[in-house]
Amino acid sequence: MLAYPFIMNGFEPDQSGRHVHAAVLHATGEPPRYGPFPAPVAGDGEAVVTVTAAALKPSDRAMAGGVHYAPTEFPHVAGLDGVGRLDDGTRVAFLIPRPPYGGMAERTLVRRDMWLPVPDGVDDVTAAALLNPGMAAWKTIVAEGEAAAGQTVLVLGATGASGRIAAHLAVRRDARVVVAGRDRRVLDHLVTQGVAAAIPLDRPHDELADALAAEGPYDLVADYLWGAPAEAAFAALARPAPRREAPIRYILVGMAAGAEASLPAMTMRKAPVQLVGSGTTGRAALTQAADAYADILHQAANGEISLDIATVPLSEVGEAWTRKSDRRVVLVP
Ligand SMILES: NC(=O)c1ccc[n+]([C@@H]2O[C@H](COP(=O)([O-])OP(=O)(O)OC[C@H]3O[C@@H](n4cnc5c(N)ncnc54)[C@H](OP(=O)(O)O)[C@@H]3O)[C@@H](O)[C@H]2O)c1
Repeated sequence: MLAYPFIMNGFEPDQSGRHVHAAVLHATGEPPRYGPFPAPVAGDGEAVVTVTAAALKPSDRAMAGGVHYAPTEFPHVAGLDGVGRLDDGTRVAFLIPRPPYGGMAERTLVRRDMWLPVPDGVDDVTAAALLNPGMAAWKTIVAEGEAAAGQTVLVLGATGASGRIAAHLAVRRDARVVVAGRDRRVLDHLVTQGVAAAIPLDRPHDELADALAAEGPYDLVADYLWGAPAEAAFAALARPAPRREAPIRYILVGMAAGAEASLPAMTMRKAPVQLVGSGTTGRAALTQAADAYADILHQAANGEISLDIATVPLSEVGEAWTRKSDRRVVLVP
């Protein structure tokens, strides 16, 4: 029988000694190691999910780095979501497994209200790849941003998985969409997909602020970057613009370009900016989220949304974790 030298609050390891293979975090800031972990056992209001695919996302790295849903005790299985089967065969996309379990394992433990159905027509790997960026994009552009025809939407970080889907959803809602990012190949592609203007980020602050201001004014900003690009956006928003009744909604979703950005008081005084963070708060109803996820998967099935995906065996998680890839890695147990 394998020995596991830990008992967490409320966590009952399978006393039979059964285990699953998993990507196990052993310390803050270290990549996970593939190895055995006690098999999950469902308690009241929980279900064991047999995992078939789990994407590797920025939030998983943030979790392992001690930033986002960080483990309070080790060992702990990495992975904040995934796709798999319930015992009755139902295919689900699960969210935030119950610690110390995670998505990157053969089986995991999930609260019964924390999954979405996966409709037919799309494979498990694609469903797992689209889960986090698709839902974040929907929440930002549709549920919280309420992008609409006649509005101008700026997506900062539109070359990433989340930003690309956000730009697509905003175009689909007939907004005028302006995107900013580093990867010119992706920016050019987005222009062919109905985006009105694409702004390369790799330029000095003032020049970037000018370029962003020239394509405004904006009704909604979806920011996946923060850091220096956000500072240029603040400068652009503070430029003289026609008087407006509704506030400019600035939704901070990610911080790929920096954890900090300096926000001048005059930005908030000159422009009616409403700055909101999009994370664990303000969650839309699960039924709405389920409909939105089904819709995003439907768009993937008919080719409207596509992500470059690299499918990797879970046993290679350590290497995949540290290797730089411009594709969304999906781990398969
Ligand atoms: N709140 C939520 O629920 C939620 C959900 C999903 C994502 N997020 C956050 O949103 C951010 C993006 O996520 P993602 O899924 O799109 O990740 P991703 O697919 O890995 O893309 C990361 C993006 O950030 C860009 N980037 C990285 N460093 C940069 C820098 N120094 N300057 C400018 N651009 C930079 C990359 O540009 P290149 O292609 O040029 O490298 C790429 O476009 C992350 O911070 C993530 O944690 C939050």
